[in-house]
Amino acid sequence: MTLPRHIAVIMDGNGRWARERNLPRIEGHRRGSETVDEIVMACRDLGVGFLTLYAFSLENWNRPKDEVAALMALLKEFLIFKREKMIKNQIRLVSIGDVERLPKDVLQTLRDTEQMTESQDKMVLNLALSYGGRDEIVRAINAVLKEKGNGLLKDNFISIKEFSKYLDTSGMPDPDLLIRTSGERRVSNFLLWQSAYTEYYFTETLWPDFSRNHLLQAIREFQGRERRFGMTSEQLHVV
Ligand code: IPE
Ligand code: IPE
Ligand code: MG
Repeated sequence: MTLPRHIAVIMDGNGRWARERNLPRIEGHRRGSETVDEIVMACRDLGVGFLTLYAFSLENWNRPKDEVAALMALLKEFLIFKREKMIKNQIRLVSIGDVERLPKDVLQTLRDTEQMTESQDKMVLNLALSYGGRDEIVRAINAVLKEKGNGLLKDNFISIKEFSKYLDTSGMPDPDLLIRTSGERRVSNFLLWQSAYTEYYFTETLWPDFSRNHLLQAIREFQGRERRFGMTSEQLHVV
C-alpha cells in the first residue's frame, strides 16, 4: 500500500467546535493547535514526507481584529514552544504564502524557526500562512516577468516545470491527498496549482476533534482509490 508522500489539510471547524460548547472562538483555535501537534507527530511516525497545513488564509485577514490578533499570538506561541520538539523529531518547518504581511514579531519567529530546523530531514512541515492560491500564482508570474526584464528567459517561453519553480512550493512534490475537516466541500483558495491531481477527502469531523485515527481512516480511503491521471484502468494494470 502506498503512503501519500505529501498530505495537505484544510483545518476547518474550530469556531463551530467552540460554539457548540459555548466557548469563545479562540478556544477552538487553541484546541485546534493541539490537534496540529497530534497530526504532525502521526504523519512523522508514519513516514509521510511532506505535511502542508492551511493555518491562515489571505481571506482570513478580514476576520474581526481580535480574532486575527489571537490567531497570530497562537501561531507565535506554537512556533516557540514546538521548536525543540521539531528538532528532536527531525522535522523541518517551512512556510508558503504572503508571509511578509504577518506582524513583524511573528514573521521573525517564523524565520528563526525555519532557520533552526533547516537541517532536519525526516519530514517537512509546511505552514500555509497568509496564503491564497491565486495570489501565489500571480506573485510567481510577477517574478517571471521580472526575470524576463533581466533577459534570463529564453524565447519568451516558460514550461510548466519551470513555472512551478517560481511558486512558493518550489521543490516540493504536489499533494497526493488533501483533507478538509468540518463538512465544508470547497477549496477556499488552497493550493490551486498544486492540487491538479490531488485526491480529496472530506470529513464532517471538526478540526479540534480530528485525531490520529481519523487520519488513518483518510489514508486508508486514499489507498483504496485508483489514480488514473487521465489514463484508463487497463493501462494502469499492464504487467
Ligand atoms: C479554521 O476554523 C481555522 C482558521 C480558518 C484560522 P474556523 O475558524 O474557520 O472555524 P469555523 O469554520 O468558523 O467553524
Ligand atoms: C479555510 O478555512 C482557511 C483555513 C483553514 C486556514 P475558512 O473557514 O477560512 O474557509 P471558508 O471561508 O469558510 O471557505
Ligand atoms: Mg471555517
